[in-house]
Amino acid sequence: MNIPREFIELLLAKIDIVDLINAQVPLRKKSGSNYFARCPFHNEKSASFSVSQPKQFYYCFGCGAHGNAIDFMIQHERLSFPEAIETLARQAGMEVPHAGPAAKKEDSLPALFELMLQVTQDYYDQMRRSQRAIRYLKSRGISGKIAKLFSLGYAPPGWSHVLDQFGKSEAEKKRLLDAGLIIKKEEGGFYDRFRDRVMFPIHDYRGRIIGFGGRILDQGEPKYLNSPETALFQKGHELYGLYQALKSSHKLDRILVVEGYMDVVALFQHDITYAVATLGTATTSHHLHRLMRYTSEIVFCFDGDEAGRTAAWRALQVLFPLLQDNLQIRFLFLPDGEDPDSLVRKEGKPAFEKRLVSAASLSAFFFQTLGRQCDLATMEGRARFAASALGFIKQIPGGILPEILVEELAKRARIDVNELKLQIKNPGAAVPQSMPNPPQETQTDLARPKLKPPMQTALALMVQNPSLAALLTDPLPDNRLPGYTFLRRLTELLRQRPGMNTASLIEFWRGQKEESFVASLACWEHMIPETGLASEFLWAMRQITLLGIDEEINRLLAKASQDSLSDEEKQELSGWIVKKKVAAAETR
Ligand code: UTP
Ligand code: MN
Repeated sequence: MNIPREFIELLLAKIDIVDLINAQVPLRKKSGSNYFARCPFHNEKSASFSVSQPKQFYYCFGCGAHGNAIDFMIQHERLSFPEAIETLARQAGMEVPHAGPAAKKEDSLPALFELMLQVTQDYYDQMRRSQRAIRYLKSRGISGKIAKLFSLGYAPPGWSHVLDQFGKSEAEKKRLLDAGLIIKKEEGGFYDRFRDRVMFPIHDYRGRIIGFGGRILDQGEPKYLNSPETALFQKGHELYGLYQALKSSHKLDRILVVEGYMDVVALFQHDITYAVATLGTATTSHHLHRLMRYTSEIVFCFDGDEAGRTAAWRALQVLFPLLQDNLQIRFLFLPDGEDPDSLVRKEGKPAFEKRLVSAASLSAFFFQTLGRQCDLATMEGRARFAASALGFIKQIPGGILPEILVEELAKRARIDVNELKLQIKNPGAAVPQSMPNPPQETQTDLARPKLKPPMQTALALMVQNPSLAALLTDPLPDNRLPGYTFLRRLTELLRQRPGMNTASLIEFWRGQKEESFVASLACWEHMIPETGLASEFLWAMRQITLLGIDEEINRLLAKASQDSLSDEEKQELSGWIVKKKVAAAETR
């Protein structure tokens, strides 16, 4: 997704972070332009979370959480960057422009969403009118309340119900076709895709309907008919039930991943409101990325048979490169012939949840499966076991989990743990034993500990109060102090765009190597009262000039003590000494 930077700047200018956060976390006004609250990102009794209106920036003194309105949406609402932009734009009544060739296609999306909503409502009304459909849902233990919550419906028999209702003009037919609701006949004309089926609308994470699954009422093929992939619907991305789960509780302690529509609905019916289904596809990394945003525990549910174990193993392979220390994964294998729907109906919520808690951990399932493929009674078998386990463990991006798994592996394979650790650190001869540090000139310039106090003050004050940049005279003199290159860039940027605030500066460097540096400047507590900001800033700038001159003088003096200075250098030195006198006089 390619969103023009100017749009993001406009959006940030239009949103007020105080209103935005206040709607989720009630804020109290306290001092000056700062609002305070108990931090929504960590547990606390005092109010360390502050939101600044002029900076359009929040910061928690307790846990360090910080950012602009977009960061708040990402951290608090668990949205991705484009989702955060989209949500904020919607609140601000703005349309996100999409650069590039996709732009034209995106224009029609709101109309498609609207159509899906209307058709869902129509299917719902049809269901209420059809004894057959009602009887079917009743027979599966679904109450009216749950049917409504999931907007379950019924597509009546006949070839043209939706077509007649919603496809009167050519443009409307085209829209139905784009939404995947009708099918084009070879000989010309169209017919309804879904006929005489119980309809399960598929919502995206924020409740828009993007597709349908339709179940046949009696016997027949296919049992479930799904929407084709459309502009709205990509199968490997979506999780059925996620919207309802998120609606039922903002923070999900656990998410259960099941296979079928009916499993999700039946679990909900039994008050297990945190199940999602992968819509008949294998678990993808898209699914996992999304789930990891909402919870720290994922339980995958599989059939207990060989096919179920194979599917679980496949999911595990997708998982390894995404594993994190704070993410708990379990695998639940169901008794023969049962699915979550049948099981929860049979044994109820407490017994079902007991199964979840005692389900196999990732490491247990991992070692057990690998162990079945190798003969651990022989040396060769154990070596093969260790080698293939290491292959997986190496894919884990970091944290202490790899070490825990290696230790477990050493026990199971009866191999010295240090030997295994060595293997994981030195993956092969092709990679040098110790990697040289990559050259990053600006890194030293930006490293915070190296900043001299006045530089720290000047930079932080400017990031937190960008209008201060206007106080500087043009052009800035040369200076070799660490951080000065950045100070120059910042000044130039703020001269070009005088309207920028802290939030838009943060945004400007998002995803770049300067990002965390700018954020740390924005969060730094300078303790200078509002009225003293300008004079403090100018004082720091004069100190920077002085220190810069000192640096030059010291450099030349150091050289003089080693070997003699050239005539040019001598001249330069006396030039700096004069400059120092002038600057020192100004500072006093
Ligand atoms: P199952 O065949 O296990 O059905 O398919 P189920 O979920 O238990 O459904 P009920 O209880 O008989 O109503 C699991 C999932 O696989 C996809 C669907 O997403 C279904 O929920 N599937 C299955 C299809 O897409 N098409 C099919 O024909 C069958
Ligand atoms: Mn079933």
